[in-house]
Amino acid sequence: MMREGAPKRIFLVGFSYTGKSEVGWEVARRLRWEFVDTDTEIEALAGKSVPDIFSQDGEGRFREIERQVITGIGQRDKVVIATGGGAVLDPQNREAMSKGGVVVCLEARPQTIYRRLQSDAQRQKDAVVRPLLRGPDPLGRIEKLKEWRQPYYAMADWTVHTDALSQEEVVEEVLNGWRYSLRRFSSGEEASIFPPVSSRRYEADAPYCDPVGASFVVRTSSQTYPVYAGWGILKELGNFFKQARLGECAVIISDDVVFSHHGKTAVQTLKNAGISVFSFVVPQGEKSKTLEAASQIYDWLVEHRVERGCAIVALGGGMVGDLAGFVAATFLRGLPFVQAPTSLLAMVDAAIGGKVAVNHPKGKNLVGAFYQPSLVVMDVETLTTLPPRELTSGWAEVIKHAMILDPGLFAILEENSDALTHLERGIATEVVQRSAALKAKVVEEDEKETTGRRTILNYGHTIAHGLETATDYADLLHGEAVAIGMMGATMISQRMGLIPREVVEAQRRLLEKFGLPTSRPAANIEAVSRAIELDKKVKSKAVRWVLLKAVGETTIRSDVPQEIVRDTLLALTR
Ligand SMILES: NC(=O)c1ccc[n+]([C@@H]2O[C@H](COP(=O)([O-])OP(=O)(O)OC[C@H]3O[C@@H](n4cnc5c(N)ncnc54)[C@H](O)[C@@H]3O)[C@@H](O)[C@H]2O)c1
Ligand SMILES: [Zn+2]
Repeated sequence: MMREGAPKRIFLVGFSYTGKSEVGWEVARRLRWEFVDTDTEIEALAGKSVPDIFSQDGEGRFREIERQVITGIGQRDKVVIATGGGAVLDPQNREAMSKGGVVVCLEARPQTIYRRLQSDAQRQKDAVVRPLLRGPDPLGRIEKLKEWRQPYYAMADWTVHTDALSQEEVVEEVLNGWRYSLRRFSSGEEASIFPPVSSRRYEADAPYCDPVGASFVVRTSSQTYPVYAGWGILKELGNFFKQARLGECAVIISDDVVFSHHGKTAVQTLKNAGISVFSFVVPQGEKSKTLEAASQIYDWLVEHRVERGCAIVALGGGMVGDLAGFVAATFLRGLPFVQAPTSLLAMVDAAIGGKVAVNHPKGKNLVGAFYQPSLVVMDVETLTTLPPRELTSGWAEVIKHAMILDPGLFAILEENSDALTHLERGIATEVVQRSAALKAKVVEEDEKETTGRRTILNYGHTIAHGLETATDYADLLHGEAVAIGMMGATMISQRMGLIPREVVEAQRRLLEKFGLPTSRPAANIEAVSRAIELDKKVKSKAVRWVLLKAVGETTIRSDVPQEIVRDTLLALTR
């Protein structure tokens, strides 16, 4: 259906100081259209300035005139309209705008708005009253007000992030948005002011509006998505789901242990948000990560007539995330996918990065895909029910991120090991978030393992995989094997003359503080070496060791002599 007003009017919405007037004026000039600033029209109608209307007649009166102006403009053709920051709050205005034209939101971070506001105030020597600058903590107030209005701004057809753009670029982006929306409306796509995020093309093309409150956003070529990390936020899952416009239906996939602890909360929050919920629970453990399990889930999805509009929610550790993600990637050629990781390993590693897979009798993760989620919600509080050994194992990947990328995190881990192992709310949340963000950054640089950047995440993993294979995954948890593998990698780094002994020992102390093993007495070195060699053969190149040059700095070497590897394995298994 064609949206009637779309070719005739562009409404610019957004917070104050996002440049609506300047940009609107220039857009109008380029289109040879008329430009209207609603504040100017309001002042003309009222016969006084906006601050005077506010102070003498009150905000109610201002909104009344604003409504009159905006609905009135809906009759004029070929016009670009810059609206006031609060215009979107009024439902009548929203309807007039959505029916009457294309709505474009100019976005800016609170810090940017604050900066622009300050410099404008200085330029004008405070001749104009600026309510936002009055009183304490103006930045805080901007943040609050913006957060409150954000859901309304997010309803725009198109959003332009202005922070890093020149005015010229913003103008271009607004015009792009207008052209894009015209095509979309005339091709009969959804013409509502609440565009559902149903088509991937829409997601890929549209600029992304950072959702309020997200801990960080992951930007990859196939998907841009928010990650929320917080304490007790599983009960907000329904709201995040709604905010991400994932539709009206969710299929939770979980394992029996996780579901018994956290299933109820997840189901309830989704239901409270008006979403229909189905749940499929598999037995816990790696044995459920198979094609057969996926196949059972497909059967069940078919039986329940699950359609394209439904999103898959993985509630669990890395096993569930990989299995549910594999189903999401393949069923109906792809359903929207939400990760709600509940193990530490899943939060800082498996749930971030879009690798999904099931195991094959011939190898782990042999059948899989790159499939990014649309949303990640990690409730750090769920870790309080995780078995202690699983929690300890998860810290190994956090320590890995510190070793390869973040000396600051290394220091935090050193200083707070006790609080962290006891999952003290504040620090645990901060560290989980920081660690997950580090992984996300690497993924952004190398989404599909093509540039080589992602290789650094294999730090400690060459020997870890060798140990896991040699012991048939029987007695070491993944993180435990990684801890030993990291010890091996630092020892090799030292032998190669890259780092002093102190770094090796600092890492050892940190691993020990978190209760992780640093050796595996009596492991069969021959079997470990064979597994490492086999791994190399499968990938048909030399073993690529991720080594350290310092805490936070890596190098990749294929020239590690056999005897150094052997000596290291000997030392690790003594
Ligand atoms: N996709 C990736 O990039 C990636 C990266 C690393 C690991 N992985 C995969 O992740 C899996 C390992 O992840 P994992 O260690 O989370 O294993 P897991 O999912 O099997 O969880 C470990 C155990 O903890 C339980 N558990 C999880 N959360 C719990 C909670 N909050 N309360 C109580 N019990 C809980 C589970 O039921 C299970 O018994 C492997 O399959 C591995 O291949 C994937
Ligand atoms: Zn790992």
